[in-house]
Amino acid sequence: MVSTDTATLFLHPDRNLAMELVRATEAAAIRAVPFIGRGDKNAADKAAVDAMRAFLGTVNFDGVVVIGEGEKDKAPMLYNGEHVGNGRGPACDIAVDPIDGTSLTAAGRQNALSMIAVADRGSMLDASSVFYMDKIVTGPEGIGIVDIRKPIGENIRALAKAKGKAVEEMVVAVLDRPRHAQLIEDIRAAGAGTRLLLDGDVAGGINAARYETRIDICVGTGGSPEGVATACAIKALGGLIQGRLAPKTDEERQKGLDAGLQFDYVYSADELVRSENTFFVATGVTDGGLVDGVRRKGPIIRTESIVLRARSGTIRRVIADHLAEKWLGEDVSLPL
Ligand code: FBP
Repeated sequence: MVSTDTATLFLHPDRNLAMELVRATEAAAIRAVPFIGRGDKNAADKAAVDAMRAFLGTVNFDGVVVIGEGEKDKAPMLYNGEHVGNGRGPACDIAVDPIDGTSLTAAGRQNALSMIAVADRGSMLDASSVFYMDKIVTGPEGIGIVDIRKPIGENIRALAKAKGKAVEEMVVAVLDRPRHAQLIEDIRAAGAGTRLLLDGDVAGGINAARYETRIDICVGTGGSPEGVATACAIKALGGLIQGRLAPKTDEERQKGLDAGLQFDYVYSADELVRSENTFFVATGVTDGGLVDGVRRKGPIIRTESIVLRARSGTIRRVIADHLAEKWLGEDVSLPL
């Protein structure tokens, strides 16, 4: 039974927060648009970061960025430990990726989105000292069936059986990286098809867990921050996510150990985020399988977002029309 007394409502993020957060991802996505296909991923990221930071500053919450983004390539970032929000409201952990898919944006490719995940303060795993994580994500049917420690072929066959599908109908999303050459071979050898992602394993994971998509599993090594953010979304979808930290060097491993992280250990959704009160919002920058990108319709800028909330188990689509002149001022010719 969920308590609704005033103190609880103040201490914990409530459903209204989700609609506040979506304003920040909408802003980041809109501000990134002039940089789509312009070849400068840092400029795109900076525009999105600045917009997200400005909007977050107006939100009624006391957020601390546990999962920032950008250290990998020294991109502009919302820093780990940075306080966001106006400080008047529930104490939260926040994971941000102003653009998941900066290279996609710079190249003008599909599937770039802006995202924020929020959970109760102290509940998100701070995996920031280790950049990469091995992950596997499925819908609810994978719970108790799929295990990241098992060979991928075995997982595909077991999940196909649980879903009542032929193995040949199974579709597995994987980041298209040289490090995944053997994994991709194994998926195909098992009889399943791949969907190779240029970037963006957050959307890939959500699509694997979502009802009625063509993706059954998202697997492979991607960013640890993205893993924790994905876990916030998966909790709302009732799906499975498992993550195992994948340090690249002994130094990174030592840093992780010093930070209290565990290696050769499989983190469950509940360990990636130790809260049932999670929120995940994302707005499309470019068109993708999860959400459409920002588009201009005459005097209107249209955004599409998803809002997921674990406590209610809901996924909502939010289509917003923004008056372009409010965003662009005199310069309404920006290439939207
Ligand atoms: P950014 O655009 O935020 O840099 O991340 C894109 C992304 O594809 C993530 O979705 C993924 O988790 C990670 O990068 C994979 O890292 P790498 O590109 O080094 O393989």
